[in-house]
Amino acid sequence: MKIDVMVASKEHLRYVTQINDAIDEAAKSRGTGIARRTDEYIADKINSGKAIIAVNREEFVGFCYIESWGHDEFVANSGLIVRPQYRNMGVAKRIKKAAFELSRKRFPNAKIFGLTTGEAVMRINTELGYEPVTFAKLTDDEEFWAGCRSCVNYDVLQRTNMTKCLCTGMIYDPAKVAKRRAEEEARKAEEAKTREHNGSWLGRIFKRSK
Ligand SMILES: CC(C)(COP(=O)(O)OP(=O)(O)OC[C@H]1O[C@@H](n2cnc3c(N)ncnc32)[C@H](O)[C@@H]1OP(=O)(O)O)[C@@H](O)C(=O)NCCC(=O)NCCS
Repeated sequence: MKIDVMVASKEHLRYVTQINDAIDEAAKSRGTGIARRTDEYIADKINSGKAIIAVNREEFVGFCYIESWGHDEFVANSGLIVRPQYRNMGVAKRIKKAAFELSRKRFPNAKIFGLTTGEAVMRINTELGYEPVTFAKLTDDEEFWAGCRSCVNYDVLQRTNMTKCLCTGMIYDPAKVAKRRAEEEARKAEEAKTREHNGSWLGRIFKRSK
């Protein structure tokens, strides 16, 4: 078995129905909403280079697409699906990593976010640097939230005035990550300076005591 994960291109348009069927089956068996999109919507994502696909030679294995919201301030990685026979082999992790890299490349300043009830996705997101947040920190683009209407739990979201639901919101904020990295580097530089200073000071004492 050789599973390849890549940015989907025109040659993958033939998998559109299979992708949507797999999303449908998963939504039914999980009882929570992974929104089924129209075949045209999935095809458009493939045509515009905003989808990641996994294939085992000619066989469809998994898929995910990216969407931008709020004038590109936010990007969501959505519709993650791995066919049942290929699960627990690290495929979702590879797809999500590729979708994350694609999102960073195409929308370098955007916050990347997702909504999920699934532990697997929470684990993958955490590894990529996402943090759990309240819904208030996610996009307020109504079109995004309209996607939740097809979910069986939509009444919960409505009841809470769109502030919470069964899903956990997770976000990767590039500005926050860059700030944290800069602070970490500054801390390391400071430590190195202290080590150097202490080293030379000890060296002088050692020389004197000889
Ligand atoms: C969720 C889904 C995409 C995971 O795909 P997968 O290829 O089996 O996931 P991976 O093998 O890459 O596993 C990633 C991590 O999640 C863990 N994991 C996988 N399935 C899990 C499950 N059902 N419950 C808890 N953890 C799980 C793995 O052990 C792994 O953890 P690790 O990094 O600590 O080793 C797949 O089960 C699926 O398509 N489900 C139906 C659709 C769905 O729920 N999509 C997500 C919508 S938000």
